[in-house]
Amino acid sequence: MKKTVLITGGAGFIGSHVVREFVTTHPDYQIINLDALTYAGNLENLRDVEYVPNYTFIKADITDAAHIRDIFSECRPDGVVHLAAESHVDRSITDPSAFVMTNVIGTVNLLNAAKEIWKDSYEGKRFHHVSTDEVYGALGETGLFTEETKYDPHSPYSASKASSDHFVRAYHDTYSLPIVLTNCSNNYGPNHFPEKLIPLCIHNILNSKPLPIYGDGKYTRDWLYVIDHAKAIDLVFHKGINGEAYNVGGFNEWQNIDLVKELCRQMDEKLGRPEGTSAELITFVKDRPGHDVRYAIDATKINQELGYQPSVTFEEGLSKTIDWFLGNQEWLDRVTSGDYQQYYEKQYSK
Ligand code: NAD
Ligand code: TYD
Repeated sequence: MKKTVLITGGAGFIGSHVVREFVTTHPDYQIINLDALTYAGNLENLRDVEYVPNYTFIKADITDAAHIRDIFSECRPDGVVHLAAESHVDRSITDPSAFVMTNVIGTVNLLNAAKEIWKDSYEGKRFHHVSTDEVYGALGETGLFTEETKYDPHSPYSASKASSDHFVRAYHDTYSLPIVLTNCSNNYGPNHFPEKLIPLCIHNILNSKPLPIYGDGKYTRDWLYVIDHAKAIDLVFHKGINGEAYNVGGFNEWQNIDLVKELCRQMDEKLGRPEGTSAELITFVKDRPGHDVRYAIDATKINQELGYQPSVTFEEGLSKTIDWFLGNQEWLDRVTSGDYQQYYEKQYSK
């Protein structure tokens, strides 16, 4: 029987790579991309799969319970891969409500719709919730997040994702809904929206604009190439144990300042600018309130139990990412026109 998999948030950064991974790796599946096309959603990210026969797009908002119920009863997906979310920490600090609506209420709407259409049998069904390591809070100088780490979210974004994770587990514990969760570290790669650190700096280097580093720049993040995240999602969706969570990461920690310096070095080389040109743009700015000091993932479980390994090193991934942005400057121009300018002014004039 042909499987139907509904991917939410498939027009976003990570979602578009997950859609591509599923459409190409599973040509026997019908893949439905459900996305509201917010400022972060962009069908241009999926130009190459647009006309592939096993792919369809539905514009819908997961906060609209009735519409979601109708779509589920019509499409009857066997699997759901849920990525749709408000995803930017700084925006969650300015306006937490949108994060509660989409990340919490939207997730519950999807869980209800899946529970309803799967009520006769859970055989062959799976709800995969895509989440973040930020639910675990912040680490000090040592230690790693494992699947057993206590939830301790700090930002409105991570609080909303933690809440959605709890609801997903609650539907498993209460209704036996077949679920898996993945909690991944920071992603980077093609199609990354330039509100996040790496694409924002690439965009600013191209335009010789300041590179805003919050606080002292010693904050640490653990980075994974987005295509390696998409492959991990495919693996856990198919091979993960029902009811379990898997941390996804590549054991790749960087202090923000060192990462931005490496980015500057590679950009100068690729742009043929004298070494040190881009690093001169580094500017320390006001810190983010409640800034989590360090995130770092222990990916032992997914590595050992499911045989997962990332395919690229950070230097390679960063190089591929820069090459993608250099080759897609029209994409960058389009997504940074209009509302982005107002967001940028407001965020960085504080
Ligand atoms: P993104 O902001 O780039 O994309 C989010 C997508 O969701 C967009 O296409 C948007 O249009 C869609 N969307 C937003 N609200 C919606 C709504 N109400 N209804 C339907 N669609 C809606 O986000 P991303 O960085 O691709 O993250 C995707 C998922 O992965 C999120 O759940 C995020 O929490 C999680 N995650 C992200 C990272 C990261 O580093 N970016 C790391 C770990 C986990
Ligand atoms: P970001 O890309 O927003 O991801 P997250 O907050 O989900 O980790 O930020 C990554 C790190 O970079 C984080 O420590 C905040 C910092 N940062 C800056 O220093 N300057 C910026 O302009 C941005 C957007 C982030």
